[in-house]
Amino acid sequence: MAKLHEGRVVIVTGAAIGNGQAFAAEFAREGAQVVLADIIEATETRDRILAQAGACEPMLLTVDVTSEPATKEMARIVKEKFGRIDILINNAGIYDEEPFELLSLEAWKRVLDVNLTGLFLATKAVVPVMKQQQHGRIVNLSSDTIWLGTPYLVHYVTSKMGVVGFTRALATEVGKYGITVNAITLGLTATQRPPGARLNQGNILSHVLPPQAIERAETPEDIAQIVSFLASDASSIITGQTINVDGGVARH
Ligand SMILES: NC(=O)c1ccc[n+]([C@@H]2O[C@H](COP(=O)([O-])OP(=O)(O)OC[C@H]3O[C@@H](n4cnc5c(N)ncnc54)[C@H](O)[C@@H]3O)[C@@H](O)[C@H]2O)c1
Repeated sequence: MAKLHEGRVVIVTGAAIGNGQAFAAEFAREGAQVVLADIIEATETRDRILAQAGACEPMLLTVDVTSEPATKEMARIVKEKFGRIDILINNAGIYDEEPFELLSLEAWKRVLDVNLTGLFLATKAVVPVMKQQQHGRIVNLSSDTIWLGTPYLVHYVTSKMGVVGFTRALATEVGKYGITVNAITLGLTATQRPPGARLNQGNILSHVLPPQAIERAETPEDIAQIVSFLASDASSIITGQTINVDGGVARH
């Protein structure tokens, strides 16, 4: 049986660890040529993909998504090497927790720069290629904190709400080229927490599970299934949407 993403070329930003790694592994498992774009070297993800029988050798690119030259170069290299770019997963993102009264302008700008400007630049770099192909899938990673108004994350929540606005407006402009743009608001997922995070690996489950309708820990592999669907031909009539995937904490 043909694999879901056979013949497709997918760029996953922030693919070195966490959710991005799981997304890249899922695309490789489903037959795609995967490009691992990260500010750090995605060797762990490459090894995970190569351990999967029949997976294509992934391309590793060191890319800072906040740099326009770097994102343009990313698109140029991928197009030159593989001839097309079918799917972009805008996953690279950062967060840190800070009460609003202590939130500095520097921290505010840093989070908006990676989470929002980075997504803009990566998308801007690939859309011309997708337009030429008359086919493209863009999936943007937002967060269920936008529905919940989670405290100590004003800069992060603002950036992730921006992702929803970006998704809605861009979808309208590029639909005529066969390009869909969708977002996922995921809940707290079992990836590595930054040092000093209020919810660390040790106490995360006791805080996260009680408000969920489905009381089990959400994993990057859960999210990977939804990302994969939104990047597939099966979702060709879905665009401009934001899908909430958080075990039923927020209702959207
Ligand atoms: N894990 C969660 O609980 C959760 C919840 C909601 C939303 N999200 C979103 O999911 C996405 C991935 O989250 P995660 O938990 O896997 O994060 P993570 O910290 O585990 O991984 C983020 C990746 O992005 C890369 N990155 C950071 N800055 C970059 C830059 N400037 N250019 C290129 N790459 C860069 C990092 O090197 C890293 O590989 C993020 O957008 C995040 O906001 C995560």
